[in-house]
Amino acid sequence: MQLHVANHPLIDHKMTLLRDERTSSPVFRELVSELVNLLTYEATRTLHVEPVEIRTPVGPTTGSRCAEPLPLAVPIIRAGLGMLDGLVRVLPTAEVGFLGMVRDEETLEPVTYAERLPDSLAGRQCFVLDPMLATGGSASKAIDEVKERGAKNIRLVCLIGVPEGVALVQRNHPDVDIYLAAMDDHLNEKGYIVPGLGDAGDRLYGTV
Ligand code: PRP
Ligand code: URA
Repeated sequence: MQLHVANHPLIDHKMTLLRDERTSSPVFRELVSELVNLLTYEATRTLHVEPVEIRTPVGPTTGSRCAEPLPLAVPIIRAGLGMLDGLVRVLPTAEVGFLGMVRDEETLEPVTYAERLPDSLAGRQCFVLDPMLATGGSASKAIDEVKERGAKNIRLVCLIGVPEGVALVQRNHPDVDIYLAAMDDHLNEKGYIVPGLGDAGDRLYGTV
């Protein structure tokens, strides 16, 4: 597996606005969308396509289109939902499955409270979406669930990761490629990414 950390001035610029505590929820949501647009370009580099014959106004040509089975986006609710719009804007044929997870604030262990995935994911390219890869527990468990349905081609797309979270996913799922907009320094004693952006779900949708 590979770790892809975007190294691009436009992504760094948008990430700085996103991290800023003065950024309001509406602007935060729009920035997440724009960042996922850009990350999707790299995460879909090996998208399954098939040839298709078309005619331009000038003549026939062979193009390509998304092949079946169609790719599946799997946002981890809540914060991952904020990334869905950015992915489907550039990959509108993607279908969507949902996983609801929340970290126990004491143990930092993920708890799954909702699941709505197709029964079989055999042959599907799956894109698991979650902005924050902190301890890596939530992402790793989400990938377990997707694999239980037969998925073998999985990519994890996050905005910010830390070495601890990347290491856990790499250890549990060495076949999964990880795409990050930024790699941060470490986790604090409460399991928050430093410098990070705070609680991604709260910043998208307000405090629960
Ligand atoms: C956040 C985030 C990830 C998880 C990351 O969700 O969106 O799912 O924490 O932490 P981990 O790598 O240590 O598992 P949270 O549990 O806060 O739920 P929310 O999305 O509903 O806010
Ligand atoms: N979840 C978040 O929303 N933010 C963090 O920094 C870590 C986990």
